Amino acid sequence: MQLFDNPASPFCRKVDVLLHETGQSADVERIPAVGAPTDPSRMPVAHNPLGKIPALVRDDGGTLYDSRVICRYLDDRAGAGLYPAPPRLWEVLTLEATADGIMDAAVLMVYEARCRPEAMRVAAWVEGQWAKVARALDALEARWPGHLAGPLDMGQIALGCALGYLDFRHGGRDWRQAHDALAAWEADFAARDSMVATRPEG
Ligand code: BEZ
Repeated sequence: MQLFDNPASPFCRKVDVLLHETGQSADVERIPAVGAPTDPSRMPVAHNPLGKIPALVRDDGGTLYDSRVICRYLDDRAGAGLYPAPPRLWEVLTLEATADGIMDAAVLMVYEARCRPEAMRVAAWVEGQWAKVARALDALEARWPGHLAGPLDMGQIALGCALGYLDFRHGGRDWRQAHDALAAWEADFAARDSMVATRPEG
């Protein structure tokens, strides 16, 4: 299988962590790529018409995207059970969607700074993205510690990658403030071999 990948992308990191956790890392060839529309020459448009990463080209030639579809496929392929049976599945999918939403907002903030000249940036839009992150963190802190204490699942992996991305690109925002339970959980989770092996640099 070929994986269009970028170690800085938290969505790609979800897939990479799953591959590590399920012993499938050696089954993929990683193709360096970007998903930003300002650099179409490095987007996997021949495999994903949206050009976004990650995209997984299966051995039979079919391509899977986005990260949620890829993760479900790879979990099923390994029989790993990171997506458990209902009713717990609904919690796992909601946690994964919440973590993906944090990533979406945090990545858009980065793109705003990276792609727009300073005079064209809209501070209220950037702060609106951060407000989404902040509301999600408050909800996770208030309602999810019980779930986070349970067995490893894909929602937890996604959340670990989302919080890791906040440290990576938005360290100055101090997401840990007023989120003690989440911070304690993240400290343990970030020490997993799969998270250490996929930690973004630069
Ligand atoms: C980043 O550099 O933060 C980034 C790279 C690829 C996808 C998303 C984010």
